[in-house]
Amino acid sequence: MSAHGSPIRMTSRKGGPLSGVAAVPGDKSISHRALILGALSVGTTRITGLLEGQDVLDTARAMQAFGATVTRTGPGAWTVEGVGVGGFAEPAEVIDCGNSGTGVRLIMGCMATSPISATFTGDASLRKRPMGRVTDPLALFGARSYGRAGGRLPMTLVGAAEPVPVTYTTPMASAQVKSAVLLAGLNAPGQTVVIEKTPTRDHTERMLRGFGAEVTVEATPEGNRITLTGQPELRAQEVAVPRDPSSAAFPVCAALLVPGSDILVPGVSQNPTRNGLFLTLREMGADIEFLNEREEGGEPVADLRVRHSALTGIAVPPERAAAQIDEYPVLAALAACASGTTVMRGVHELRVKESDRIAAMARGLEACGVRVEEDEDTLIVHGLGPDGVPGGATVATHIDHRIAMSFLVLGLVSQQPISVDDGSPIATSFPVFEDLMRQLGASITRD
Ligand code: S3P
Repeated sequence: MSAHGSPIRMTSRKGGPLSGVAAVPGDKSISHRALILGALSVGTTRITGLLEGQDVLDTARAMQAFGATVTRTGPGAWTVEGVGVGGFAEPAEVIDCGNSGTGVRLIMGCMATSPISATFTGDASLRKRPMGRVTDPLALFGARSYGRAGGRLPMTLVGAAEPVPVTYTTPMASAQVKSAVLLAGLNAPGQTVVIEKTPTRDHTERMLRGFGAEVTVEATPEGNRITLTGQPELRAQEVAVPRDPSSAAFPVCAALLVPGSDILVPGVSQNPTRNGLFLTLREMGADIEFLNEREEGGEPVADLRVRHSALTGIAVPPERAAAQIDEYPVLAALAACASGTTVMRGVHELRVKESDRIAAMARGLEACGVRVEEDEDTLIVHGLGPDGVPGGATVATHIDHRIAMSFLVLGLVSQQPISVDDGSPIATSFPVFEDLMRQLGASITRD
């Protein structure tokens, strides 16, 4: 089943080296947050480098439905006239977040402490994903939710008319849950506290501070204790969105795999809560140089020079999982071409992403002739070396953009081409993927 309309079958095959500049789009996590915080601010926020992928466009439309004025002024350039904290209007329409777990969970958070209700839905993938992980803490503020069995969408959330502040320890490593609680805390009086055992991406905390909220982070024996002082006046900002390390992962891994490749990926966020894949790749023997390290839009960024490399399997440290959670699919594809075994433990959260990514990667790799092992929390890939992956399969992507892109990368080096049954979800996060990869020299076609 396709995310948007008919499925688009795509195929990749072996070709010459990749070269040139891979300017990947803006960061998806930061793009959602820029629109949401812009909507919760007083004044006009100006955003540049916004990811114009479907997930983010769905969040833009949702912010309009809650009363903000969101306008595209040029490629990647958007303005948001906000309504201020507590100023959300009750939407007259169902909020359709498409494929985006980040969109729906963050938006639920920021409306949960206003005296309004809203009904949320999404595509077939999002309707399978658990929402209890956000509605449980939002209930502590006084919000009520009415969804399908198992806390699934469609779901109506009734915001708390008289919210109380909350102290909440996140039971899983999830920036979406942390962010939903912090965004709900904005319209509650007093201090809202989130304690997270494992640090996850910190874009919400960084950006809240940038918009004028008081947010402190304290390292404690229980983990990071993040404290937000409620009911601030958020002030409109200029936000320059850095390029997405999770999208950069695809051309980076492709260049490492395809013999003779040498590419430059400029301006990629190196936020330490997001850079796990690059550390892992270096441990596997990857030739990646981090050039021109600097700060852009409040985030550390670097230009990456990536050259084809001989790779060796490793045991990925489980404590690194949160900092590369979205990169395991492409890492698993790359591991299939390494010498030796790559062991990925502590990855159970992959089972509740856009698809069950452990199962989707395991079945797809097996179809391509690669031996894998899995359990609830683990994926192990037995590498076949640089020329050893047979390929020659059509892989099911389960409405998951990262599964589709990972197998299209693998098809660039497998003995036989690899097809994916539906590449249309790639548009949710990386709408220029095919053009960008083709400009580098990759052979990716629509069948
Ligand atoms: C995201 C958090 C992560 C990540 C997702 C984006 C965010 O999800 O997988 O792609 O922007 O907060 P979890 O919070 O479920 O780990």
